[in-house]
Amino acid sequence: MVHAVEIPDDESDAAALYELGDIPPLGVVPDTMYAMTIRRERHGEPLQAFATEVVNVPRPGPGEVLVYVMSAGVNYNGVWAGLGKPLSPMDIHKQDYHVAGSDAAGVIWKVGSGVRRFKVGDEVVVHCNQTCGQCHNCNGGEPMLCRDQRIWGYETTDGSFAQFARVQAQQVLPKPRHLTWEQAGCYMLVYATAWRMLYGHTPHTLKPAMNVLVWGGSGGLGTMAIQICKAAGANAIAVVSSKEKGEYCMELGAKAYLNRKDFDCWGPLPDTTDAEGYRSYVKRVRRFGKAIWEVTGGVDVDIVFEHPGEQTFPVSSYLVRRGGMVVFCAGTTGYNLTFDARYVWMRQKRIQGSHFASKYEADEANHLVMDEKIHTGLSVVFPFEGVAEAHDLMFRNRHPPGNMVIAVNAVERGCTSLAESRARHGG
Ligand SMILES: NC(=O)c1ccc[n+]([C@@H]2O[C@H](COP(=O)([O-])OP(=O)(O)OC[C@H]3O[C@@H](n4cnc5c(N)ncnc54)[C@H](OP(=O)(O)O)[C@@H]3O)[C@@H](O)[C@H]2O)c1
Repeated sequence: MVHAVEIPDDESDAAALYELGDIPPLGVVPDTMYAMTIRRERHGEPLQAFATEVVNVPRPGPGEVLVYVMSAGVNYNGVWAGLGKPLSPMDIHKQDYHVAGSDAAGVIWKVGSGVRRFKVGDEVVVHCNQTCGQCHNCNGGEPMLCRDQRIWGYETTDGSFAQFARVQAQQVLPKPRHLTWEQAGCYMLVYATAWRMLYGHTPHTLKPAMNVLVWGGSGGLGTMAIQICKAAGANAIAVVSSKEKGEYCMELGAKAYLNRKDFDCWGPLPDTTDAEGYRSYVKRVRRFGKAIWEVTGGVDVDIVFEHPGEQTFPVSSYLVRRGGMVVFCAGTTGYNLTFDARYVWMRQKRIQGSHFASKYEADEANHLVMDEKIHTGLSVVFPFEGVAEAHDLMFRNRHPPGNMVIAVNAVERGCTSLAESRARHGG
């Protein structure tokens, strides 16, 4: 591959620190940068957890690249990292502070030794899966089963809420050219996760005309799941908590939506030995099931796209069809997932855990974005100082439908390339 740029080998010209949006010469790396950090003593709700600091710019090691971050997506990972629950990220990576952010769009600014496929100046989006790259699972197996598998920006530091982020070279994918920086930074984590949930667990893969129950239809994962279903010719039935969110799901291509507030069958499975109480519970679950049947014409859903967890799991596993799959990637409302085992074994249902995606899956999924068949669902753009506020909205489930993003160095809004950002900002 030909290098299209002159890469300075002497960085003595670099300023010690650049202001957000003041773009350094390509390939010139300053010593320090602005980063939104989490420290152990600040663990708590987002407004307490995040603070701006000036920290050293990480240097890329072998097989790594340094990305100049234009925009960074807001995900629940940042909420968990701030809370320090269920784990403090510092307990995992042992650094003094944590830079969260597991979604980014930006420009490769420096490459470490041994990086051949990517070069300084490449405009990229970043997926968040890190693996060893050397084990049998990384080479012909299933990289998500690599023993060193980590989520960048959560289990590792050097995430995207900073001017520069250090990532493994295998994490970068081409930025879809038509997207603005803000759009490009907001979708990959939830999109690739949803893709694997729906396509990664054979033989229960999405097929035309299937019915899929999508929890949190207007949330990050849900907006992507609905669009994937639509692109496949399948029927997404979204579950939401308001009419406004339901209408958003319909615009995305859901076949119908149900408002969970109209039903009362949530929470852990009740005591199965309390015959009276259990009968009443099943009746309430069936009322929700009947509402689904009204959409499907009387058949059970083929796949339940799960992530709320404790509050919804018993219902999901009861309502999925014989031989169908409940696929889940989280337990946002609690990890104590319960279900009535009788319905799962007698009806031979599959309960499948799922976690992010391999690079192969992220790349496969990205092609539909490049083809403009899947939209990023960008909702609100926050300035860098808005990291805590954006996560606070998410923590309180008050965020708008779709995906929020932080404009890190993309301070000029609506640009689709580094050249455009530089021209508009000057420098
Ligand atoms: N393992 C992975 O690879 C992976 C990847 C991405 C995300 N996740 C996890 O998945 C979870 C969701 O992520 P997200 O980005 O989609 O978050 P999000 O944008 O906040 O969406 C979650 C949705 O869940 C719904 N919800 C909230 N409380 C609920 C309840 N009690 N019952 C049913 N639904 C409820 C909300 O919709 P309504 O209020 O409208 O119902 C909300 O829109 C998070 O815990 C995140 O960490 C895991």
